[in-house]
Amino acid sequence: MKNETMYFKDEQLKLLDQRKLPGEIEYFSCKNYQDTEFAISDMVVRGAPAIGAAAAYGFYLAALEFADLEKVELKKELKKAAEELIAARPTAVNLSWAVEQLLELALDNLDKSKDEFLTILKNKADNIADSDRKINKKMAENGNTLIKDNAVILTHCNAGALATVEYGTALGVIREAHFSNKNIKVFADETRPRLQGARLTAFELMEEGIDVTLIADSTAATLIRDAKIDYIITGADRIAANGDTANKIGTFMLSELAKNFNVPFYVAAPLSTIDRKLESGSQIEIEARDSQEITHIEGVQIAPDNVKVYNPAFDVTPAENISAIITEKGIVKNPKKKSIAKLFQAY
Ligand code: MRU
Repeated sequence: MKNETMYFKDEQLKLLDQRKLPGEIEYFSCKNYQDTEFAISDMVVRGAPAIGAAAAYGFYLAALEFADLEKVELKKELKKAAEELIAARPTAVNLSWAVEQLLELALDNLDKSKDEFLTILKNKADNIADSDRKINKKMAENGNTLIKDNAVILTHCNAGALATVEYGTALGVIREAHFSNKNIKVFADETRPRLQGARLTAFELMEEGIDVTLIADSTAATLIRDAKIDYIITGADRIAANGDTANKIGTFMLSELAKNFNVPFYVAAPLSTIDRKLESGSQIEIEARDSQEITHIEGVQIAPDNVKVYNPAFDVTPAENISAIITEKGIVKNPKKKSIAKLFQAY
């Protein structure tokens, strides 16, 4: 990507404003943790790994703001900041994964000098961001081993550089296949209602010079039935211990089509997206978003006044519909609790 998804400079977190893409390239500045919380909940930044890294910097901004307080007060403020950041979006586990690590580190280092305390937290936030870059590259290399020459790949939502710190998860695999000259083609679902596919995935892939065709979500079934798709690859927001996977609404429907028409369905996600505390997908909290995302397009009302709306942001794909989960530690084919647990053995 020509423009970084995020960077930290002059004690501010700068986020490429994804609400404005592809029309405008503008950075949103987070000067404190409340700005960061807003940026995550309003989807200035979105995508599981990206919101995890952004929230880590958001927590550091809280530490900067409150570092002069006396210990008891500081502890109280940091816990409050952590809670608010985690509550910004409930489904992607990367958010709590990142914030909880910083909170724990902060509470363990309250006795340090202010400078030392802040350096420890800043280094941790930087480390979460930097390791996301490396993890995505490794995941992409692993995933690329599954992709044949001249493959046609369908993807949903945006699991690209914009959804991570760099390179992407599902789009990381696609990038890697493209850079290894496999002559791949991509169909991108527009991804109603927020249109991450149309606005972000199409933009990202075109910028990279990857052959991408944008389709309405409802076109996917026809392409799959007509054997025009070799693989479906998506990202994930939270994967339960048994492999059930929450991802953008519409992913489950694609997985059912994949099963019906024997198309391999791959999920690319880092280990930080796997929530081993949850036995199955039924325990994953699904974020409900504002009804205006459905009733309005670009601020223009398209549905009748007061119509009832159901707008879950994510759905859960059962593990049995997933051909493989691609991670930085390897590929788990036909994911099950045991094979997923093995990924963590040397972690
Ligand atoms: O609501 P969003 O845009 O944050 O949803 C994002 C997705 O569903 C992605 O597929 C997922 O976070 C994986 S990102 C690498």
